Amino acid sequence: MAAPGRRPLVSGNWKMHHDHVQAIRTVQDLGLRLQPADVAALDVSVHPPFTDLRSVQTVIEDRAIPVALGAQHCHHQDQGAFTGEVAPPMLARLGVRYVIVGHSERRQFFGQTDEEVALVLRAVLRHGMTPIVCVGESEEEREAGVTHDRLTAQATAALGGLPAQQVAALVVAYEPIWAIGTGRTAEAADAQAACAHIRSVVAAVADAEAAGAVRIQYGGSVKPDNTAELMAQPDVDGLLVGGASLEAATFASIVTHAGGR
Ligand code: 13P
Repeated sequence: MAAPGRRPLVSGNWKMHHDHVQAIRTVQDLGLRLQPADVAALDVSVHPPFTDLRSVQTVIEDRAIPVALGAQHCHHQDQGAFTGEVAPPMLARLGVRYVIVGHSERRQFFGQTDEEVALVLRAVLRHGMTPIVCVGESEEEREAGVTHDRLTAQATAALGGLPAQQVAALVVAYEPIWAIGTGRTAEAADAQAACAHIRSVVAAVADAEAAGAVRIQYGGSVKPDNTAELMAQPDVDGLLVGGASLEAATFASIVTHAGGR
């Protein structure tokens, strides 16, 4: 289990699924399933598409659903001529608490670079939201034995130069690309080794206190039946769930297993 002081965070990344009507139903259903005791010892966030955010915010607030609102991406500038993009203050105004930054799908399909990831991360922090910074190796990198080098490079590029206090308060998600949407979850021991490595990188780029405080999630084919084993690893402080977060019943089951219930 996560060290005392690191409150686990279980996040549902809906990716490009659920229009706002489906989103409303899903979060209402989640609200009916999650009991206060389920979330007493952990934080939960949902990350719907942009078009759903306002609707989901309203449902969460009206029904006092114990789930934080999250976004999947944003631009790094506060405003400007950037057709199709969404600015960080727009998300903050909506009550968004967590923003996924540098997801491998943004890096892979939209050409997001390490430099852009670092800029977005800083913009999210500037507007008082918590970034969930994604790092992870590809299958080729894993086979070539360079997983840790890759994680070091990505984490250093994203976090290098930030005040240690800010690093301590953010979230890193270890998402091996080969495990995303494939049904091939990382072995719990491998997830642990990678998360421990990321923590050592945080100690190097920030300090030991930040490394002890930063929350590190695992993501990649998380399901209710592998949740407990992953969460039992000492350096795994939460989960970033894709496909299995789309159905309220499945996601609620992951949340309750993550809370040890
Ligand atoms: P899956 O859980 O569908 O593998 O997706 C993981 C992920 O990319 C979450 O951000």
